[in-house]
Amino acid sequence: MTSSISLNIKNLQEAVTESHIDNLKPMITAAHNTLHNRCGAGNEFLGWLDLPTNYDKAELERVKVAAKRIQENSKVLIVIGIGGSYLGARAVIEAMTGPFFNSMDEDKRKVPAVYFAGNNISSTYLSQLIQLIDGKDFAINVISKSGTTTEPAIAFRIFKEIIEKKYGKEEAKKRIFITTDKAKGALKKLADTERYETFIIPDDIGGRFSVLTPVGLLPIAVAGINIDELLQGARNGRENFSNEDVHRNICYKYAAVRHLLYERGKTTEILVNYEPCLQYFGEWFKQLYGESQGKDGKGIFPASVNFSTDLHSMGQYIQDGMRNIFETIINVEEPQINLSIKEDEENVDGLNFLVGKTIDFVNKRAMEGTALAHVEGGVPNIVINMKALNPKALGELIYFFEKSCAIGGYLLGINPFDQEGVEAYKKNMFALLGKPGYEELQRSLTERLGD
Ligand code: PA5
Repeated sequence: MTSSISLNIKNLQEAVTESHIDNLKPMITAAHNTLHNRCGAGNEFLGWLDLPTNYDKAELERVKVAAKRIQENSKVLIVIGIGGSYLGARAVIEAMTGPFFNSMDEDKRKVPAVYFAGNNISSTYLSQLIQLIDGKDFAINVISKSGTTTEPAIAFRIFKEIIEKKYGKEEAKKRIFITTDKAKGALKKLADTERYETFIIPDDIGGRFSVLTPVGLLPIAVAGINIDELLQGARNGRENFSNEDVHRNICYKYAAVRHLLYERGKTTEILVNYEPCLQYFGEWFKQLYGESQGKDGKGIFPASVNFSTDLHSMGQYIQDGMRNIFETIINVEEPQINLSIKEDEENVDGLNFLVGKTIDFVNKRAMEGTALAHVEGGVPNIVINMKALNPKALGELIYFFEKSCAIGGYLLGINPFDQEGVEAYKKNMFALLGKPGYEELQRSLTERLGD
């Protein structure tokens, strides 16, 4: 199966060579076997591995029908969720529709604007969103696997009141869509009581691996993006990245190279894009790798930048700061739309030497020049080439990062599928809020805060 993506590691120079990768082969094979034989840590959360072929077809059809209904009766979809329950959808929607999608005229956009809530606890953010949708027909998709997460629960309570007031309880029910666990959690209970249309997050798929379940697919479909193509891309990835030989599998090669760089003190990875629409792909990537691999005192710190924008803010540090960094550059070979630079008789800006060149030509030279400068400054890079940004390529890229993340986690010797560290802040927050059951912790935290 021809892949939409390819890997270029020539800018690693002597830091990581083919023979270093060769030496890692037995470990990669072991990680592959652990993953595919489903015998490693977190093996109860491997549903994403075969998801592109093994999904619930009837559920997918229901997603499409619901998306169509929302498109027909709403100008806005509010997606309420946090972490893995919103980042994938936001990454794909922004990658495919661009940064101005929500601000476009409704008749040009043709599908509802998609806004996200429940991913912070800012009353200002919520109020501004409420103001923004005032007078507009809207629907809500609440997404929470556990069904108990505080941030989306608060946002849903607020928007539920608004939607019920606007449409009445019965009509509101037709505009509220729940994506959650099949049996447990407060959200499931509420969905059953109120008889909201509900989509299931499979038990064996954790939040950050769930973008290709209804978690991501419903909002993505509402935004008018072809979810069949997205899944087809992931299917291609499943096939293309199945070979246990690291030299025939770019997904494993990426995991191997990251691991080798980490062993050489490169403890920060920066995902670089040159297309602003990929900003949220960077956010999705950070959650996937940060929450999967940052544990037991180990793991690469995942960061992201948008170039050339951030060359004027973070560029100095990357070129010249602490040398614990490497970059992973996403190179979109063909832009969705290209513009060329026209002649200006006066040439006051001195740009006539670029006449006839495309803006993307300039972008690519910026990318090449920056990569070389950073390599000279001691920042090696891996380049992921994508022929074009389309749902199929994006689906394959998602699968690429997910599988590589799992393999990389096993190389580190950690469980890539749990996230116990996330609980620490929740316990403290509940205690400080006076939630029943947290009295003792509340006393000790209050004392510490009083110091
Ligand atoms: O990847 C994860 O599991 C987390 O980031 C969750 O997605 C996030 O904490 C939200 O959880 P929930 O979907 O249960 O509300």
